[in-house]
Amino acid sequence: MAVRRLHPEQPESFAFTPANRAWAEKVIARYPEGRQASAVIPLLWRAQEQHEGWLPEPAIRHVADMLSMPHIRVLEVATFYTMFQLAPLGKKAHVQVCGTTPCQLRGAEDLVRVCKAKIAAHAHELSEDGDFSWEEVECLGACVNAPMVQIFKDTYEDLTPESLEALLDDIAAGREVTPGPQTDRRFAMPEGGATSLTEIADTTTGGDPVPHVVDGAEAASHVFAGEAINAGGQDFDGVPAPQTTAKAAPKPVEKAKDVKPEAVEAAAAGAPGSVQSSLDLEGEGAPESEPDLLKGPRGGKPDDLKQLKGVGPKLEGVLNDLGIYHFDQVAAWGPEEVAWVDARLKFKGRIERDGWIEQARILAEGGETEFSQRVADGDVPSSKA
Ligand code: FES
Repeated sequence: MAVRRLHPEQPESFAFTPANRAWAEKVIARYPEGRQASAVIPLLWRAQEQHEGWLPEPAIRHVADMLSMPHIRVLEVATFYTMFQLAPLGKKAHVQVCGTTPCQLRGAEDLVRVCKAKIAAHAHELSEDGDFSWEEVECLGACVNAPMVQIFKDTYEDLTPESLEALLDDIAAGREVTPGPQTDRRFAMPEGGATSLTEIADTTTGGDPVPHVVDGAEAASHVFAGEAINAGGQDFDGVPAPQTTAKAAPKPVEKAKDVKPEAVEAAAAGAPGSVQSSLDLEGEGAPESEPDLLKGPRGGKPDDLKQLKGVGPKLEGVLNDLGIYHFDQVAAWGPEEVAWVDARLKFKGRIERDGWIEQARILAEGGETEFSQRVADGDVPSSKA
């Protein structure tokens, strides 16, 4: 782990925007009296997002003052976690190369060489055009797909020097890039398909072997995941589903015993009353309620949902397909509507984590959020269609 120091050039001051301050006060209020320091990580994160992705020293003091903490305590937090950046970042990409053992054994040092050659000779230095920066970090939790890098909030896995170079070129040129494995591996499944655990003996009855739940059979995968992860041959992230080569038709796994095949298909299409909803009725998920959906945008003009933090072009397409086109639709969601939409997105919890409803309320009233301003300024590459 490299020594993490504050950047030599610091702004004069830092203060949360009114919207971020209101959000911060709400977060602090979640904790009992005397335990406000528990909000230090989310507040530092919000300060970092407000300040172009890095934490200047005045922001660290600002957060400490809000939480009545000694400045040194917050400085300790900010300098410990590599999720906090202490120097300006590349505008288009800050590449965090995992250098921990599994990634190192699979070629992380070659990835560092690519970063040195294509970005800058030293970590935390900006490229000449200011668009890129890089650093080496410890394990980012995607070891099974080593070696990997994280760029802002996304991970790119199964990299080679060539595929990392191509990725950086695509980002530089503004071409759309797809997070996840950069080979034909799907998620963290075995390269080239399953080689083991493709079937298990039915020990309860002594009958025929039963296909294992992770044999790649799509219907079983849906139930195993507890939600529809595949719709019409495409995952929600656009990754084509593998063609199943299972010799025998999969028997339903136990949890799906009473689920009708039509309901499995309906779940894949995200339809109400589908498998997911059925499972929810059995107490396996939050109660759902279908929100107000539209057949098309009002007046033929949808809102730019990419102004919501966490919504890129693909997710906007998914929301539109569901019948969600306007900020006021999102602003009207309660917990049950959030659960309904959440169940149809790839990343559960995203709506709450990114604060869509709070943002949508502001945008529906014609206001701006710090993120929507950045989108309007063209500073958010992932929000460009
Ligand atoms: Fe690289 Fe874990 S070792 S992601």
